[in-house]
Amino acid sequence: MLREARVGGRVVLDLGVGSGLVAEAVLDELPEASLVGIDFSEAMLELARARLDRFGPRVHLVRHDLAEIGDLALPAGRYAAAFSVQTLHHLSDADKESAIAWSTGVVESGALIVIVDRVAVPESLFREWAAVWRRIDPATPATYAEYEGQLACGGDRPADVHDQLSWLRNAGLDAMCVHAYGNRVVLVGRKPNP
Ligand SMILES: C[S@@+](CC[C@H](N)C(=O)[O-])C[C@H]1O[C@@H](n2cnc3c(N)ncnc32)[C@H](O)[C@@H]1O
Repeated sequence: MLREARVGGRVVLDLGVGSGLVAEAVLDELPEASLVGIDFSEAMLELARARLDRFGPRVHLVRHDLAEIGDLALPAGRYAAAFSVQTLHHLSDADKESAIAWSTGVVESGALIVIVDRVAVPESLFREWAAVWRRIDPATPATYAEYEGQLACGGDRPADVHDQLSWLRNAGLDAMCVHAYGNRVVLVGRKPNP
């Protein structure tokens, strides 16, 4: 998707850069682009620095809590795309929505916002989800209580897929789910041109 976005020599934003695994793939795929990666964990940023060192000035890493994204002063309107992989589920729903709104504010018109993350499994459909997901991951919890316990243990707060699409749309983006796999989805939004 980012290749299709014709990013060229512009800048992309990675919300929750972690160890830089996805950032590295993006920078390899977009050889002229630069990347700003945000994470609140110094330990993860240290890993990202080591992994992304070979890209030199194409990488700028920022330590910041996405739950307080409104306080982050980055130059606005200059990002060709923003993406967040396996990160937003760590935030409260209000903070997820704020992060999406903030990202929409800082990207260029026409830019893509891509979210790859897990989504909530409703209790009434847990058995159906587990029947599918257990074929992929034999360690899938046996009961909803066990599933909830695992979420609590990991500090994970995945949101409903429709809520996430609503937040993208409320921010003014055209949005859709382009891929779903069990409770993993790829959501994409485009900031319209004025
Ligand atoms: C599962 S890792 C994903 C890293 C990377 N996107 C990837 O896919 O390889 C989630 C990352 O989100 C970061 N994170 C979680 N909550 C955060 C928050 N409130 N603010 C900033 N970063 C956060 C963690 O430190 C971690 O590096």
